[in-house]
Amino acid sequence: MKAEMSTRTVVAGTGHYVPPRVVTNRDLEKLMDTSDEWIRERSGILERHHVDDGVGTSDLAVEAARRAIADAGIDPATIDLIVAATLSPDHYFPGIGVQVQAKLGLGPIGAIDVRNQCSGFIYALSVADQYIRAGTCKRVLLVAAEVQSSNLDFSDRGRDMSVLFGDGAGAVVLEPNEDGGGRGVLSTHLFADGNFVPQLWMEKPSPRDRPTFQTAFFDEGRFFPKMDGRQVFVNACQRMPEAVRAALAANGLAIEDVDHLIPHQANDRISLMVAKGLRIPVEKVVRNIDRFGNTTAASIPIALDEAVKAGRIRPGDLVALTAFGSGFTWAAALIRW
Ligand code: COA
Repeated sequence: MKAEMSTRTVVAGTGHYVPPRVVTNRDLEKLMDTSDEWIRERSGILERHHVDDGVGTSDLAVEAARRAIADAGIDPATIDLIVAATLSPDHYFPGIGVQVQAKLGLGPIGAIDVRNQCSGFIYALSVADQYIRAGTCKRVLLVAAEVQSSNLDFSDRGRDMSVLFGDGAGAVVLEPNEDGGGRGVLSTHLFADGNFVPQLWMEKPSPRDRPTFQTAFFDEGRFFPKMDGRQVFVNACQRMPEAVRAALAANGLAIEDVDHLIPHQANDRISLMVAKGLRIPVEKVVRNIDRFGNTTAASIPIALDEAVKAGRIRPGDLVALTAFGSGFTWAAALIRW
């Protein structure tokens, strides 16, 4: 999906929000048979943020959105589309897009929910990018948010998953760049292989079961997310570099042209393997999983916002985004900042 027209999608503002409660590895040691050392060595995570009771994904999404809107310095009434990415909506249906719209007090604009898990931000960016480049929309709010902590198995049975994930949200305001300059999203590249559904999924609840909610499923822990950690690890290390290479090739660019690589923060070892696979210096890789854990769709916009606000990403820089997750799905995007 390469931008053929002169109009490109530019990021006019970024923002992120995480709930205030910090959960350290030591806190998790009290809940299950794990250790700070194991979690640090295997994932690079030191702490993550968890919401308190009553706080949902849409609440985090709205805070991140407000910050991105303030950063862009725009009147929210001028937003003409919301694209929201999450695997953890407040409700089974509807999605969080409409809740973000209502909580921000926006008019009856469209609100699309994208469900592509850890690849959700780049998938959602590809959707927003099409609307902007086609001229259909002039200002899109893209928000990615997750509350993982309320449905993780914090017993020994779920320790491989529950130590990795955290809650948080990131948002960007997207606009057309019609000045003919080179700034903006160069292209987005989406991939999927549905043969790997059970390798990373939340199996239940499923409307295929009658009734959908059965006590036996609870007892067997089938309402918790599950993964085959090794399969995910191996595929993530292979697919993210492939996606970045495809994006560079489509734009006639080389790995040396990339100033910043923002991989989905799944596991710091995966991020380092992706850097190694691409032969990109580790200093160019944005890594913040130590403080947030894996926040699924939110991880890339959180990392992007931090890097921009720290002055690390500067005008003219080439930013490569890449993600891998449940589905399996994977993706890459290039942005000329
Ligand atoms: N604390 C302590 N021990 C744990 C543990 C925890 N939280 N979770 C698992 N273990 C144990 C395992 O039971 C296993 O024990 P065994 O050898 O007695 O069977 C041992 O640690 C090693 O497990 P292994 O699977 O070999 O570890 P690993 O080095 O592959 O790391 C993951 C495990 C989950 C960290 C790693 O596979 C991974 O990061 N996978 C990808 C995860 C991911 O990114 N998911 C989301 C993608 S978007």
